[in-house]
Amino acid sequence: MSTESVSLTVGVPRESYVGERRVALIPNSIGPLKKAGLNVVIESNAGMEAGFTDQDYVAAGAQVSSRADVFAAANILFQVRAAGANRLAGASDLNLYRAGQWLIGLCDPFSEPALMSGLAERGVSCFALELLPRITRAQSMDVLSSMASIAGYKAVLLAAERLPRLFPMMMTAAGTISPAKVFVMGVGVAGLQAIATARRLGAVVKAYDIRPTVKDEVLSLGAKFVELDLKTDDAAGAGGYAKAMDEEFYRRQRELLTQVVAESDVVITTAAVPGKKAPMLVTADMVRKMPNRALLIDLAAEQGGNCELTRPNETVVENGVSIAGVVNLPATVPFHASQMYAKNVSTFLLSQVKNGQLALNRADELVSNTLVTHAGQVVHPRIREILGLPPVATEPPPAENPSTAGPGG
Ligand code: NAI
Repeated sequence: MSTESVSLTVGVPRESYVGERRVALIPNSIGPLKKAGLNVVIESNAGMEAGFTDQDYVAAGAQVSSRADVFAAANILFQVRAAGANRLAGASDLNLYRAGQWLIGLCDPFSEPALMSGLAERGVSCFALELLPRITRAQSMDVLSSMASIAGYKAVLLAAERLPRLFPMMMTAAGTISPAKVFVMGVGVAGLQAIATARRLGAVVKAYDIRPTVKDEVLSLGAKFVELDLKTDDAAGAGGYAKAMDEEFYRRQRELLTQVVAESDVVITTAAVPGKKAPMLVTADMVRKMPNRALLIDLAAEQGGNCELTRPNETVVENGVSIAGVVNLPATVPFHASQMYAKNVSTFLLSQVKNGQLALNRADELVSNTLVTHAGQVVHPRIREILGLPPVATEPPPAENPSTAGPGG
């Protein structure tokens, strides 16, 4: 590492979560960081699974090092899965972080708040990217959206591969094949991409969402929007997300959706409410009414699932119908998932860099929403609440320059 320069260093460790094939930075994303005056050091073989060799990174201007050296040299760490998003191995990284270091990545702070306390004790400033607000300025940083697009696409490909039927209509000398019927529940980012992909493969697609405003998007993709006789005027919450509804609403919703589910060869569920368990939209009884060998692909498996029978990472068979609780689909497309992730995470960092130095603006809602630990404390109000800590009383300090803010940054 250069000693005479005060340039900050972005470190990229190899991902350690089982089955994780993404890398947080790709060679093409190094240029913009260097242009902003930052150095990059990456752990040897970090990009291998995604298709990027150490030589590719060196050619793009990065240094390649051991894991320990990456953690030791970095002022800022880019990780895909850190802390709570990598429960077992993430905890073992705790003693590698240094005071003053920034950690930017998916950290799942709600599921493992204790790991957040650990990061605070280490003096790490941790930015959990899943907490980014869905505002226009954050779109190019929104890792949940970019990864959900990939998941929606891949869910349809999995369904097409596993279904014993063809997706497109085919008129052949051997007879006419009718197209597969696909029903997408939850038309957020993943759902829209699932609809588009299923349409491209020739399926007849229906879709449903609790937020009626998505109807036009569904129609523009050539799918039919399923409308239910339910009051949903107040279903949209802040930032374009859905709100949690009461159990009676969900019961009625399931009742009205039973017929559509029963007519579908493939159901793809993506319904989510931020910070809450996924709503249960499909009961075991509804599954039993589906055609023999039909499929339900549940993208919300990790949030508790949209189907009563979903088990994360497993395929459950009920009455001839398979329910796949798919997890971490973006890792199955690591080249492009890493490309999108790298763009998101770099854009986020560069929003807090001025003249090659970190300029943390705590008043910026990108920061106030994502910053979970800072200066030895858990600072995020919701995580403090979960940990039983009193609210932080202090006003956000003015912009800070970590090169003068203590060791390591
Ligand atoms: P999103 O928030 O953009 O979309 C969720 C949609 O569900 C919203 O449009 C919302 O209105 C709708 N919804 C909520 N309650 C509903 C209800 N009762 N009935 C019908 N629709 C309802 O979320 P996004 O980014 O599209 O992600 C969808 C899900 O996919 C999330 O659970 C996310 O964690 C998951 N995901 C899974 C991956 C995997 O590999 N399994 C990878 C990436 C995301």
